[in-house]
Amino acid sequence: MQDASGRLLRDLRISVTDRCNFRCTYCMPKHIFHSHYRFIPRSDLLSFEEVARVAGLFAALGVRKIRITGGEPLVRRDVERLVAMLAKVEGIDDISLTTNGSLLTREKARTLRDAGLRRLNVSLDALDDETFHAINDVSLPVSRVLDAIDNAAAAGLSPVKVNMVVKAGLNEGDIVPMARQFRETPHIVRFIEFMDVGCTNGWRMDDVVPAREIVARIHKEFPLRPVDPNYPGEVARRWRYLDGGGEIGVIASVTEPFCGGCGRARLSASGSLYTCLFATGGHDLRAMLRSGGSDTEILDCLRAIWSRRTDRYSEIRGEQTDRPLSRVEMSHIGG
Ligand code: GTP
Ligand code: 5AD
Ligand code: SF4
Ligand code: SF4
Repeated sequence: MQDASGRLLRDLRISVTDRCNFRCTYCMPKHIFHSHYRFIPRSDLLSFEEVARVAGLFAALGVRKIRITGGEPLVRRDVERLVAMLAKVEGIDDISLTTNGSLLTREKARTLRDAGLRRLNVSLDALDDETFHAINDVSLPVSRVLDAIDNAAAAGLSPVKVNMVVKAGLNEGDIVPMARQFRETPHIVRFIEFMDVGCTNGWRMDDVVPAREIVARIHKEFPLRPVDPNYPGEVARRWRYLDGGGEIGVIASVTEPFCGGCGRARLSASGSLYTCLFATGGHDLRAMLRSGGSDTEILDCLRAIWSRRTDRYSEIRGEQTDRPLSRVEMSHIGG
């Protein structure tokens, strides 16, 4: 199924909760938390049965890849039950999850893997506790996240992709140490340009360290060569160490947008469908699900939404600066 620019619907990112035990300054900053954030009431959350039904309908329209996100997806109780349900959906051949790692015990990793999870991405923005705390505003030590990565690997979820959001003047000093930490392991660090998602993180262009500069800094220490994407429309640009030390990625949504190949739909925990990470509004699927909408009716609605889609926010960001800020928050649609 193609959108108005000919982009195929391929991926569905499913947020299972808008809650999180971290308060990252670039996502849910604590100082405005109480005035700004209203968590979704429990009764408004889609049940796992409802999510699996929606996933089945998306699969019928061509979606092959599902990513479970949040907020922090592991705060949703029994999320492995959802993984098992999604693993049974015909047509889905890749189920992955993005987590902050804080709740990923060895046991949890194994349970997720047994339920059918194939891949795991773990966020880690710094290697020292002080910087980690300054960014993520949580009192956990970095070692907890490093343990989570080991737990994932022990459960057979290796390689893990390790996501580092880079913010100028805050954790840019950790770019090379992060590369060093995960060189010669199977894991793949992805350096992410700080993005203007939502309307609470006070984004400024000056806070962005451009991907080309990130690559240059690593290349100086550990020479790199570019590698072709795994598939068209891949979010991260890939690089490999010349000495065989493994792979890294950069996600350059700000300086090198990748909207041209974007086939990602996003389902919020309350059942709204968003066709872009920077959307200002969603489409309420929950109302259809709960008012007895048939599969045919919902499929027709999804086809209509996707076929009209023209989103390419990252490509036109510069023209949008005076637009009123009412973009959906990252914690609602999980990145
Ligand atoms: P893989 O399938 O493992 O490559 O995962 P992914 O990179 O698509 O997902 P992940 O949840 O690890 O996201 C990594 C970063 O990419 C996050 O900062 C996301 O917000 C960002 N990202 C993912 N998809 C998009 C997108 O469609 N547009 C933009 N602008 N950023 C995206
Ligand atoms: N810019 C870039 N990446 C972000 N993430 C959260 N907020 C932002 C932002 N403003 C990342 C998280 C996680 C992924 C899902 O998105 O750190 O790795
Ligand atoms: Fe939580 Fe992830 Fe947002 Fe940080 S970026 S507050 S870990 S949902
Ligand atoms: Fe897709 Fe929107 Fe991201 Fe562009 S900005 S890649 S259209 S989600």
